Order: sequence, then C-alpha cells, then structure tokens
Amino acid sequence: MTTKKVLVLLVMLAATEGEKICKPETCRSVYCPAGSNYTTILLTGCTSAEEIIFDGNELDVNSWDDFRMSRIGKLSLRFNVLRDLPASAFANILIDDLILSHNELRVIKVDHFVGVSSLNALYLDNNLIEVVESIPSTRILDLSNNRIKTIGEDAFLRSGPNFCQYLYLKNNRLDNLRFLKNLSDLSVLDMSNNNITTLNNRTFPPMENLQVVDFSHNFIIHVDLDVAEFRSLRTFQILMSKQDELKIHWNEIFVPLNLYQLYIVSILTFTIPIIIVLSVIILVLSCKKRKKLFKDTEMKILK
Ligand SMILES: *[C@@H]1O[C@H](CO)[C@@H](O)[C@H](O)[C@H]1NC(C)=O
Ligand SMILES: *[C@@H]1O[C@H](CO)[C@@H](O)[C@H](O)[C@H]1NC(C)=O
Ligand SMILES: *[C@@H]1O[C@H](CO)[C@@H](O)[C@H](O)[C@H]1NC(C)=O
Ligand SMILES: *[C@@H]1O[C@H](CO)[C@@H](O)[C@H](O)[C@H]1NC(C)=O
Repeated sequence: MTTKKVLVLLVMLAATEGEKICKPETCRSVYCPAGSNYTTILLTGCTSAEEIIFDGNELDVNSWDDFRMSRIGKLSLRFNVLRDLPASAFANILIDDLILSHNELRVIKVDHFVGVSSLNALYLDNNLIEVVESIPSTRILDLSNNRIKTIGEDAFLRSGPNFCQYLYLKNNRLDNLRFLKNLSDLSVLDMSNNNITTLNNRTFPPMENLQVVDFSHNFIIHVDLDVAEFRSLRTFQILMSKQDELKIHWNEIFVPLNLYQLYIVSILTFTIPIIIVLSVIILVLSCKKRKKLFKDTEMKILK
C-alpha cells in the first residue's frame, strides 16, 4: 500500500471513531466554538494559554492528555456531557479558574484533583453531584444546583495558598454542616435551599472573616449559636415559615452582633406589604390617568 492509501485509511478510521479535533491557531486565547461536536483539542507546541474555552462540545476524556500544559488561566469545559473525570485529570497544570459547570458529574472523588494546588475558582455547579469526597484548595467554590447529600468531613484540603473563602451550595440536599469545621477563611456562605435543621457551634464554628450567610429555604428549627463570635458578620439571611419563626428567639440571638442586614423574613410578613404597596401604586396610577382624561375632555369643551 502506498503512503497515500494508508493516510486515507487512517483518516477514515478516525472518522468512524467519531473523533473531531479542534485545532486552534493560537495558544494564547483558545476558542473551540460550541455546537461543533469537538471531542478533543490539538495544542501542538503550546505550553500555556490565557484561556481555553471548550464549552458545548463532546469532550472525550480519554483524549484528555491533549490538555496537558503547564499553565492555563481559565479552562472552561461547560456543557460537555462529562460523566466522570480521569484520575489526576488536572495534575501539574497551574490553572486559575476551572469551569466544569453544566455537565453530568455524579461524584467528586479524592483522586480527581490530585496535584491541583493553585486554583482561584472551581465551578462545579449544575451537575448531578450527590457525593463530594474531596475538594482541592480554591478561593471560590461553586457547587450550586446539584443533588449533594454528603460532603466529607475532611473534604476541604489545604494544599495551596488559596483556601475556601466563597462557598456556594445553594439548591442541594445537605442536612448537616460538618464539612464547615476547617473552613476558617470563609467569607461568604450560601446554604439556601438545603435541608439544614440545626445551627449550633459544633457544626458551625466561629469564623473570623464570615460576612454573608444565607440559610434561606431550609428547615431550621433549632439555633444554638453564639453569634458574637462571628465578628465580621454583616448579613445573615434566613427565610422561614411563620411556624418556624415562633420557635426561635431571633432578637436574643442576634442582639450582640453589629449586623448590617438581618433578614429573617417569614413568607407572610414578606408578601402582605408587597401586595399593599402594589395596590397603592396601581390605585395612584389609575387616578392619574383619570385626571388626565378629565382634563382633556374639559379642554375640548372649553374650545
Ligand atoms: C453535531 O451533532 C449533532 C447530533 O449528532 C448534529 O445534528 C449536528 O449537525 C452536528 N454538528 C456539527 C457542526 O457537526
Ligand atoms: C481540620 O481541623 C482539625 C482540628 O480542628 C485538624 O486536626 C485537621 O488536621 C484539619 N484537617 C485538615 C484537612 O486541615
Ligand atoms: C429534606 O427535609 C424534608 C423535611 O424534613 C424532607 O421531607 C425531605 O425528604 C428531605 N429531603 C431529602 C432529600 O433528604
Ligand atoms: C458551644 O457553646 C457552648 C455554650 O455557649 C460552650 O459551652 C461550648 O464550649 C461551645 N463549643 C464550641 C466548640 O465552641
């Protein structure tokens, strides 16, 4: 067989395997357009990139090796139908922002992020995650909109200079806060729409830098926190039903704090004023309109 024939055969084989390669022209800002069904990327001669955007394609994790680089500013792999990650998938790449949102990941395992130590942000929101065994050192972590029931007690590893300051866990199924135990750098915590029933100082230890907390839409019936120990707290939000509210003496608990905003809003007290305000606005508007109509007709008559 001639070389040409072999080449043609190879191309045909590749085509039948359904491999589709994104071959960017530059290393700096790499963009593989969404909807192109790319399964892999060829970055020959590139050792670093400011950003690699590979959203909305069909990344084949077996060709993951092609991502091997020493430094990537932002690596975005949203909407790639990823169900699992290879072990040590991102080892030895310095990545600032790693975006894995909108995939189908189910478990975050200990070996997924081995060798990752320098993240600024890790986005794992909008997956199907139920269990989080381990999280690498990252300043911002978004795990919103998953199905998380469990986060390992020692899941947060302090393996680099950045440690969790912004933690977004809204819309999950968490019923305990044991994973908070070592998160002493935390500044923002969004726990809204979970299944938390109790806030006490064993599961929610005092955090020097905590500023904003959202526990809206949980099932909180018991609060036993010495909030005076949360010196930086400025906003604490809990949206609860009237029934829950009766059981907890919020004023006593929060008086020691210099809170900027404290929203403990029951559904009832929230909606009634809004209905009143809305009706007043509608009334005023309709009065104004009538007045104008009246004036117009008055003018006509005068003419
Ligand atoms: C990607 O795949 C889908 C479904 O298989 C197909 O409809 C679409 O035309 C493909 N797009 C391209 C750019 O090949
Ligand atoms: C978590 O904190 C405990 C002490 O409260 C410490 O013994 C343990 O090593 C810490 N774990 C991690 C992973 O930092
Ligand atoms: C969350 O808590 C509610 C009320 O206790 C319960 O009905 C529901 O089944 C819980 N959901 C999960 C996923 O555990
Ligand atoms: C929790 O609060 C109780 C009562 O205020 C106190 O006796 C206990 O030492 C606190 N525990 C921790 C871990 O801070």
